[in-house]
Amino acid sequence: MKNECTESAPWTLRRGDCLNVLGDVEPASIDLVYLDPPFNSGLRRQGRKGLTFDDRFVDVAAYREFIGPRLIQAHRVLRSTGSILVHVDWRTSHHVRFLLDEIFGAENFVNHLIWSYGLGGSGPRSFARKHDDIFLYGRSPDYWFEPPLVPAKSVRLRGRMKKATDVIDIPSINNMAIERTGWPTQKPIALLNMLVTACCPPGGTVLDPTCGSGTTLVAAIQSGRRAIGIDMSDEALGIAQQRLERTTSLLAIKDPMPRVARARRSGPQENAPLAQSA
Ligand SMILES: C[S@@+](CC[C@H](N)C(=O)[O-])C[C@H]1O[C@@H](n2cnc3c(N)ncnc32)[C@H](O)[C@@H]1O
Repeated sequence: MKNECTESAPWTLRRGDCLNVLGDVEPASIDLVYLDPPFNSGLRRQGRKGLTFDDRFVDVAAYREFIGPRLIQAHRVLRSTGSILVHVDWRTSHHVRFLLDEIFGAENFVNHLIWSYGLGGSGPRSFARKHDDIFLYGRSPDYWFEPPLVPAKSVRLRGRMKKATDVIDIPSINNMAIERTGWPTQKPIALLNMLVTACCPPGGTVLDPTCGSGTTLVAAIQSGRRAIGIDMSDEALGIAQQRLERTTSLLAIKDPMPRVARARRSGPQENAPLAQSA
């Protein structure tokens, strides 16, 4: 599959098992893969209005058989300056890290990010589980990266910005949030904004193989990147399409010159490959 994103339509959605769809993506054509797969929770994940997706595997070996080949395809489609973010939690993070070491090479490990989200239950027999794990690996040592800045908290640096650490404090989406779509396990746009702008060059292409409601794609478009989303669910893709259409038209009202075009015209940053044309 050629990258079909253009300056006026900088996103593409594909339906199907991401293993097959990724197999059609041109090798070395993508700047960032963000993968937020099922977590092997053993549940049918429930959102609003009957929206669900299946998060059940027979056992952890079946989960590894699911995730491994998809990571191999992700590795194949990344440019040498690209990188991957894999978002999992305590159930499988140790297995996924091991697979990433095998497929990407332990030397290409960059960060184990902790997304600390606050909400959630606690039990009497353990510390409350309040974080997800996000692994960042470069495709090579030349991976592109722009350290994100966050407001400093210390008294000494009050009012100034500092480089973000590997612990990201962003609340999960609450029930009343405007951004809430009803898709189960939707991630906050603030989290994806930070990840996409840190790991994908302006004008580059982000691919999300299990895009759900399209949060990654919205973050990409808002910041002048191109986006490719894949999901098995028609309902998820319907939500993603609506969000992307709304985002594209809001941006066109605010800024008639598409952001991707602006990023390309002002030239790539050091190490940043030009986005492919359609
Ligand atoms: C954790 S959710 C992604 C949520 C998304 N990040 C968001 O913010 O809405 C996982 C998604 O994987 C999709 N999925 C599960 N297996 C898949 C497969 N083999 N290929 C493509 N999508 C798949 C599900 O339909 C679901 O939308």
